[in-house]
Amino acid sequence: MTIQQDSQLASPAVAFPQDFLWGAATASYQIEGGAFEDGRTSSIWDTFSRTPGKVLNGDNGDVACDHYHRRADDVRLMSELGLRSYRFSVAWPRVQPGGRGPANQKGLDFYRGLVDDLLGRGIEPWLTLYHWDLPQELEDAGGWPARDTAYRFAEYAGLVHDALGDRVKFWTTHNEPWCSAFLGYGSGVHAPGVTDGAKALAAAHHLNLGHGLAVQAIRAAVPDRQMGITLNLHSLKAASDAEADRDAERRIDGVGNRVFLDPIFRGEYPADLLADTAELTDWGFVHDGDLAVINQPLDMLGVNYYTRQVVAGPSDDGAPQSHWRAPSAWPGSGQVRFLTRELPVTEMGWEVDPDGLVALLKRTHEDYGPIPMYITENGAAYDDRVAPDGSVPDPDRVAYLDAHLKACHEAMAAGVPLRGYFAWSLLDNYEWAWGYSRRFGIVHVDYDTQVRTPKTSAHWYADVIRRGGLAA
Ligand code: FCB
Repeated sequence: MTIQQDSQLASPAVAFPQDFLWGAATASYQIEGGAFEDGRTSSIWDTFSRTPGKVLNGDNGDVACDHYHRRADDVRLMSELGLRSYRFSVAWPRVQPGGRGPANQKGLDFYRGLVDDLLGRGIEPWLTLYHWDLPQELEDAGGWPARDTAYRFAEYAGLVHDALGDRVKFWTTHNEPWCSAFLGYGSGVHAPGVTDGAKALAAAHHLNLGHGLAVQAIRAAVPDRQMGITLNLHSLKAASDAEADRDAERRIDGVGNRVFLDPIFRGEYPADLLADTAELTDWGFVHDGDLAVINQPLDMLGVNYYTRQVVAGPSDDGAPQSHWRAPSAWPGSGQVRFLTRELPVTEMGWEVDPDGLVALLKRTHEDYGPIPMYITENGAAYDDRVAPDGSVPDPDRVAYLDAHLKACHEAMAAGVPLRGYFAWSLLDNYEWAWGYSRRFGIVHVDYDTQVRTPKTSAHWYADVIRRGGLAA
């Protein structure tokens, strides 16, 4: 890569603060490979990806980007791009095989090495404890719908912290617990593939409880440890002012956003959510004292944003909609319709709507702040191809990132304390139920040769970081 000198760079028209944390993100199962090496055991994604019909083309994470063996090269690449921070996750079954008992030192060694490589190159490690790889044995014992999993998670968090607490400043518990609970146990499109609304709600509570217990466990060791959580908050818009559409927005906000935000920041579950889901559960899984455990003071909130959703009430003719029938990812609110608009879409079919990010950040700040926020994921999948000259042009991704960074800037100008941004993703990787068919990386990965090629967006992002902002 050609690196320009700072002095050659014009100052940016859209400038970010000097200490803004510019980064890129990945997750263990999506990039590591080395799936059964050095004592790692199966996670629910190893099992799910081997279950016929669950993942496109039957793809699995056995090899993925082979990051387990290419760690040092990948960190060098991050350094060449000028990343100030790298968000990664720890694979639970790598460091505590089976989800119980002592730590597996070989598994921890991988992350010790990663953190040392990062620090050696001046890149701030940002650690996520859980990005969906639950040890299979814990799923067999009931998974997240079982209360014990929350306690197991806190114990695991303590083991990771014992090993890395001296070197990692930023700690987050879960990545997108909404997906773990409602895609994992509601619609079943993610591991473990269960379709049971009541279990999904119990899972959400135990993910919340596990978060609180993990924060307590880590702060018992280091009381001022910087801790947070990453949520995929849903940016919602009612299709119209009609009561049914506004009710649809309230419902999806409840089971998509407030189910996590309210207990974490306010120490309560929303009354309307309990009412919406009363036919499924009496919420008896919430024990006395749980909400106080969940309601720990936090230092940062990570927000993952990809798109906005327009929601509407049931159609007039009462015809069942795709979400009406089980399995729904929205227990108690399966009748809500999700409408599409005339907007450009990414390869995931997700509408490109940067204004939705501004609205989401402002709302979250107003209702749950003040708390420093970080965009812990934002990006887009496109059908990138290597050109004959070896480059990987991805103008749509550059436009997407540019527009969303401008949205971040707009939210900051409106008073949102946004402190950093992580592009999803550093590398093309295993996109869950879509296998390797969806490329989100700013760096292209050839899965046959494992050759990494920075796309145009990577060069562009490196420039943005060096300049500290964007052109007009
Ligand atoms: C998020 C996940 C991440 C990645 C992106 C596209 O929901 O956290 O692992 O798959 O979506």
